[in-house]
Amino acid sequence: MKPKICVVGSANIDQISYVDKIPNDGETVFGDSYQMGFGGKGANQAVMAGLLGAEVYMICCLGSDVYKDMTIDNFKINGVATDYIQIVEGSSGVAPIWVDKTGQNRIIVIPGANNLISGPKAIDSLKIIGNIDVLVGQFEIPMEVNEAVFSYAFENGITTILNPAPADKPSDTLLENTSWFIPNEVEFEEIYGKTFNEQNLLSFARELQTNVVVTLGEKGCAYVEDNSVTMFETESVKTLDTTGAGDAFVGAFSYALANNLNISESINLALEKATDSVTKKGTQSSYKD
Ligand code: RIB
Repeated sequence: MKPKICVVGSANIDQISYVDKIPNDGETVFGDSYQMGFGGKGANQAVMAGLLGAEVYMICCLGSDVYKDMTIDNFKINGVATDYIQIVEGSSGVAPIWVDKTGQNRIIVIPGANNLISGPKAIDSLKIIGNIDVLVGQFEIPMEVNEAVFSYAFENGITTILNPAPADKPSDTLLENTSWFIPNEVEFEEIYGKTFNEQNLLSFARELQTNVVVTLGEKGCAYVEDNSVTMFETESVKTLDTTGAGDAFVGAFSYALANNLNISESINLALEKATDSVTKKGTQSSYKD
């Protein structure tokens, strides 16, 4: 039987401009190329898990615009079930993105319909789906929806993974119902208010009382277990576009956990997928060969 993963989160249309030089205030520059594609942290994580072969359900909210059908088709193509997607009047989420010549990105998310997702409907969907192994959430939908679905999941013995991105302080309720907390280095520093280092990571994990993995880009990631930090390195590659790499990590990690891989196998698979994604342009398009 395939592991069952449910992602409750965002779906966006990514509008990516590749530029040699990011413009300064009041400056106009020419870009090298432009790419429109499917994104949104929740959708990216679902698609990665779907591509790896999990039974994945996406619970997100789309607008009544031209992006709705394209997004649904894209989920289907990538092995993600769309039966529980909510639709509202108005615009779907969009994300204008700049990627510079080092592959680093700057992202603005206009949430649109993502902000209108209904928590009660999401919980009804989780009940109908049933037998879920892993539930995954991020911070591109309202916090109260995350709190509601994480509480339901935890009460029902479902492993929960929280990717606190974009950075925001999780409430106590949300943390109490989180099995795995996976920020990147920048999010760690914004949420904890301290520089990322081994000692601060240990004190953060003690406060959180949950499993913590911090992703560190080309440096790999750090995992806290039994009051000690294990560092995982990743292969060094030529980076073209880092957009969606963190989501590749979370999606692959959720697939691995749902498949009962052990922690180091899960982290290594997640790092492999994230690292591979930065060698290609685009968000979800970089998850494929
Ligand atoms: O993590 C990358 C994602 O952040 C992009 O796909 C964009 O849509 C934003 O959600």
